[in-house]
Amino acid sequence: MGSSNLNVSYSKLGQNLVPSAIASVMTIALENPNILSLAAGFTDSHSLPVLDVSDAVKSLSERPGSAEYLQYGTNQGRSALRSRVAGRLMTQDGISIDEEDRKRVFITNGSQQALFLATQVLCDTGDIVFVESPSYFVYLEMLKGEGVEARSLPTRGDGSIDLPALEKELVGIRNAGEIGRVKAVYLVSYFSNPTGESRSEEEKIELAGVLRRIGEPIAVIEDAAYRDLYFTHEHPARSIVSLNAFEGISCLYLTTLTKPFATGLKIGSGFCTDAKWLERILWLKGHHDFGSSNFTQAILEEVLSDDCFDNHLRIIRRIYQEKMNALHAALCDGGLTEVGWSWKEPSGGLYLWLKAPEGLDTRMGSEFWKACCQNGVLYVPGDLCYGGVEVFDNVRLSFGVLEQEKLKEAASRFTETAISFSRIKS
Ligand SMILES: Cc1ncc(COP(=O)(O)O)c(C=O)c1O
Repeated sequence: MGSSNLNVSYSKLGQNLVPSAIASVMTIALENPNILSLAAGFTDSHSLPVLDVSDAVKSLSERPGSAEYLQYGTNQGRSALRSRVAGRLMTQDGISIDEEDRKRVFITNGSQQALFLATQVLCDTGDIVFVESPSYFVYLEMLKGEGVEARSLPTRGDGSIDLPALEKELVGIRNAGEIGRVKAVYLVSYFSNPTGESRSEEEKIELAGVLRRIGEPIAVIEDAAYRDLYFTHEHPARSIVSLNAFEGISCLYLTTLTKPFATGLKIGSGFCTDAKWLERILWLKGHHDFGSSNFTQAILEEVLSDDCFDNHLRIIRRIYQEKMNALHAALCDGGLTEVGWSWKEPSGGLYLWLKAPEGLDTRMGSEFWKACCQNGVLYVPGDLCYGGVEVFDNVRLSFGVLEQEKLKEAASRFTETAISFSRIKS
C-alpha cells in the first residue's frame, strides 16, 4: 500500500509536540551496543524480585475465587491495595489512618500516569507550574507538550528554595493580574531525580506559609518516587499530606511501587486531599483505561501483605548504596574532581548530579556530548532538567542499571573524556 495523501488534521493536543530528549538518548544507547549508558533511570535488573512475584502469583492462583484477579477491577484501584498504600504512608509519617484517608488514594499505571492526569485536569495552555531548579525532566517535557510553562522556583546556592523570593515573585504575578495562571508547585522532595537531595520539613512548612499568605488556589504536588530508596536512613521529613501547615491547600502526594519493587509492574499511586481534584483525576482515568491492571495490583497487594516488600527494599538499598559508592569512587580515582568537576554523594535515590567546570557546555550535541558518545558513554545533559532557566554545565549520571564493573568502566570513559577536555582548555 502506498502512503495516503488524504492527510487527516490533528487535535490541538500534540500541537506543542517536542521530540522527547530522553527517547533520543535511549535510541542512541540501543543502537550502539558498545555504549555504556549512565543516562537511563532504570533499576538494577539482577535484583528484580522474580521469585517474590512468582510466589505471589502462585498464592493468588491457589486462592478460592482466584479468577477475580483476571477480571476488570475498579477505576480508582483495588481497595485492599489502596489501604496498604495509605497504611505505608501513615507509618512513614507516624500518623493514624481512617476510612476517609483510604478514599483519597488512587492507583495508576506508574506515578507517571498520576502526574499526567493530575496536570491535565489542573492546567490549560499558558498556565504556570513552579518546579524545582533542577527538576524531573520527563515532567518538564510533559508540561512543555501541554503548553504549560515550567517556571523554576527561586533557588539558593545550597539548593534550598528561596521562599521570600518566591513570595515576592507571586505578589508580582498577582499585581500583573496573572495569578490565575499559577496552578501548582511540583516538588520531588525525597532523594530527588536529578540531584539526590531531599527537602526538609521546615522548608515544606515555610512553602505552605507562602502559599497561605498569597491566598490563591495553588496546588502542591509532592512526588515521592524515591522516598523508599534511601541507603541507610529514611529522610525524616513528613510528607505534605501529613503536615497541618498544608491544611486547606490542595495537595497531591505521589508514590510508586515501580522503583522500590519492580519497574515492569508499573503501578503507582496518589493521595489527594482535594476531593474535587481527585474526582476530575478519576474522571480522566476512566477515559484512559477505567482502572490499572487488576492482576498486577493484586500481585502488589500480596507482596505488601507480609514482609516481602520490605525485605526486598532492604536488599536493594544496600545494592544501590554499593553502586553509588562504586561510581563515585571510580570518578574520583580517575581524577574527575582534579579537573574541576564537583558533586555531592547522595544518601539515597539513583543519581549523581555533577557540576562541570565553569563554562563547559554539556548539552546534547555539544562537543563534550559528542566526545562522550564517541568514547562509549552516555549521560543525561543537565540543561534538560531546568524549567525556564538556561544552565548548560550539569550532568546526571544514573547508577541504577549497570553492574558495578560496567559502572567503573563507564566512569573511566567519562573521566577520560572530561580530562581530555580540560587539556584542550589549558
Ligand atoms: C521523579 C519521578 N517521578 C515519577 C517517575 C515515574 O515513575 P513510575 O511511572 O515508574 O512510577 C519517575 C521515573 O523515573 C521519576 O524519576
